[in-house]
Amino acid sequence: MATISTPDYLIDQAKRRFTPSINNFPGMGALERKLLRTDFPQRVLAEPPAGSGLKPVMGDAGLPVLGHMIEMFRGGPEYLMHLYTTKGPVYYADSPVLPAVTALGPDAAQVIYSNRNKDYSQQGWTPVIGPFFHRGLMLLDFDEHMFHRRIMQEAFVRTRLVGYTEQVDTVVSKVIANDWVADDPRFLLYPAMKQMTLDIASMVFMGHEPGTDHELVTKVNNAFTTTVRAGNAIIRTGVPPFTWWRGLQARKLLENYFQARVKEQRASQGNDLLSVLCQTEDEDGNKFSDADIVNHMIFLMMAAHDTSTSTATTMAYYLAENPQWQQRCRDESDRLGDGPVDIESLEKLESLDLVMNESIRLVTPVQWAMRRAVRDTDLLGYHIPEGTNVIAYPGLNHRLPEFWTDPMTFDPDRFAEPRSEHKKHRFAFTPFGGGSHKCIGMMFGQLEVKVIMHRLLRKYRLEPARPGYQEKWDYGGMPVPMDGLPIILRPLR
Ligand code: HEM
Repeated sequence: MATISTPDYLIDQAKRRFTPSINNFPGMGALERKLLRTDFPQRVLAEPPAGSGLKPVMGDAGLPVLGHMIEMFRGGPEYLMHLYTTKGPVYYADSPVLPAVTALGPDAAQVIYSNRNKDYSQQGWTPVIGPFFHRGLMLLDFDEHMFHRRIMQEAFVRTRLVGYTEQVDTVVSKVIANDWVADDPRFLLYPAMKQMTLDIASMVFMGHEPGTDHELVTKVNNAFTTTVRAGNAIIRTGVPPFTWWRGLQARKLLENYFQARVKEQRASQGNDLLSVLCQTEDEDGNKFSDADIVNHMIFLMMAAHDTSTSTATTMAYYLAENPQWQQRCRDESDRLGDGPVDIESLEKLESLDLVMNESIRLVTPVQWAMRRAVRDTDLLGYHIPEGTNVIAYPGLNHRLPEFWTDPMTFDPDRFAEPRSEHKKHRFAFTPFGGGSHKCIGMMFGQLEVKVIMHRLLRKYRLEPARPGYQEKWDYGGMPVPMDGLPIILRPLR
């Protein structure tokens, strides 16, 4: 049976507590409060063209070098709520790291996602993840994006999802039964979940049977984790030994690995995602080149991994906090029993759907949608000049009291008929984005997370690590629980 080593646990906790960051540096809380009260000198992004009737976007630069990073990384959606209520839906943050216009509220999100006149390109993401994930689907634009998306869509049709779901279940059942530690408040859910979703990706994405090719899989998984971390680096230079440089090295390793695998998989009829991308073609017979598959696989690993880790972790946290919802979900799982699961059986777990929506409303894995204006345009009557980064924030929209009753309360029934609060505005609830770049892996991700939760609820009762425990999230990238999220797994049988 798996156990936790006390020295390893203590070292891990010390690292979490004492590695300096904007979230744990002494005095940061007081500084954050002071910054929220500070009126920084106002500036105009650009004067609107004469006679256009448009308003100029106003903004400020925040602190030298750091801009508003402290408020953003510490407060996340709470800081954006502060901006929305004090400055309105369109405001300019002239940060030296990433100068951008914040486009707040669902009306602004609608303009960005629908992108009716093709005014906004995906290149808003480039400064953040471009060097590590370039030519991934999310970073392609317009006709080229549509061309690639049509081919990739074939890898996510229902018949393919059937095969992936079966493989996800194989990995999840094995990991939860053998590797997770019961009855121990030191068990950290977030890193355990992250490891499990990597194990899932090794099989479902890369075609390695669980327990095989251990050394190679570990090397690839480590390289992958390094590229993801590099996207969040504060010092952004390709000079050793900085995180950014390590990310570039890791990207090379991933390219070499996938190039070699594509050569092998072209001839195979496997049902892992890599093999499927090698076989798949659109209705006109267009296929991906080897280089396309390498770029898409590296991006897909990233797009699938932290998002599903975050979703499953947040759900488990809220279920531990809300035993009545936990029991309601378990009752549905008990009706399915311990046999193999498939898409039809997972569809019967309706309470889990409500809990998933509510969890990613409150802790939204992808907080931002980053875009860049490709020409002068207007956003809700404000003038946006060509080349401006514009960011919509679903993480904020999911908490606006004009759409959500008592927004900070965990209340999954708000998504059920007759309340259906998510339908009050087409863009009030967009955890998977919207428009032509809406998440292509949404169904896959939802199935994966439901398999995880179903197996977890059948085996354990989830309890908070201690009475009154409340998680704190680090909003530096995707929301991450700062202490790794301790949780107690009580075996049910
Ligand atoms: C389960 C949690 C997930 C969440 C919350 C999530 C969220 C998102 C969001 C918000 C976007 C849109 C970004 C934008 O507008 O710029 C997106 C795009 C994307 N996601 Fe997901 N995702 C999840 C899982 C997955 C999975 C499992 C995969 C792959 C298997 C995946 C692959 C993609 C891809 C390829 C795109 C780009 C689509 C395009 O540009 O056409 N995602 N995701």
